[in-house]
Amino acid sequence: MSAALEIRDLSVRYASKGFALDGVNLTIPKGSIVALLGANGAGKTTLIRSVSGLLPLHSGQITGGSIHMDGQSILNMASHKLVRMGMGQVPEGRLVFKQLTVEENLRVGAAVLPRSTEKERMDAVYDLFPRLLERRTQSAGWLSGGEQQMLALGRALVTQPRLLLVDELSLGLAPLIVSAIYKQLKMVGETLGASILVVEQNARLALDFASTAYVLERGRISLHGTAAEVAASDLVRESYLGVAQKGAAS
Ligand SMILES: Nc1ncnc2c1ncn2[C@@H]1O[C@H](COP(=O)(O)OP(=O)(O)OP(=O)(O)O)[C@@H](O)[C@H]1O
Ligand SMILES: [Mg+2]
Repeated sequence: MSAALEIRDLSVRYASKGFALDGVNLTIPKGSIVALLGANGAGKTTLIRSVSGLLPLHSGQITGGSIHMDGQSILNMASHKLVRMGMGQVPEGRLVFKQLTVEENLRVGAAVLPRSTEKERMDAVYDLFPRLLERRTQSAGWLSGGEQQMLALGRALVTQPRLLLVDELSLGLAPLIVSAIYKQLKMVGETLGASILVVEQNARLALDFASTAYVLERGRISLHGTAAEVAASDLVRESYLGVAQKGAAS
């Protein structure tokens, strides 16, 4: 069975910079949740842009390697095609359209759907996030940060993606809201049988949520394994979980 996403030897550079990714390998088995950890500037967002076809928008270029989704090459494929193939994305910085209403934002996400399924899919998102239903006619710019993040997630989920890429869901949000959103995300993943890649600064949260994890350091994968293995590694304990170097006792 082919993986939901298979990245091999991926190298990327930006016009104004040297390599941002250098020989990256990463696999998302079907139906699983994979966490990608790494410090600021490690290349996490670059990896997501490479997969979702958004690299050219940022003057970035794939210089080598391969990317397959469900066994099919998607290298340099345009993002609207990828959405039709079942890819969903929650971009960094909750990019909702602030002047549009909540409902209009969801419609943008649903634009690739046949008209006949649009309402049903939007209702499914409202079921998941009743807060969005209450605010449906309000401008997205008036929503709180957490509500905007729900909207960004709802907009990605409205197409019922098979592969969902989520970049920094927790940024700037209160812990309670974050764990509520993650719980819903997990439930949605299970219901849809979707595979999920989460980029997270909050390593503890991501390692709780994911089955597999990768650590990216300066454009290279320095560690990967089950979430439990990665959580137990010295590198992650010290650099990402804030656990001091262990002494005699462990
Ligand atoms: N559009 C761009 N042009 C030039 N360099 C870029 C561009 N976008 C990112 N970079 C550089 O590529 C490297 C990786 O950046 P990236 O945004 O992928 O990191 P990140 O791991 O997502 O960091 P953060 O946790 O801060 O979001 C950094 O050195 C960054 O400065
Ligand atoms: Mg980033």
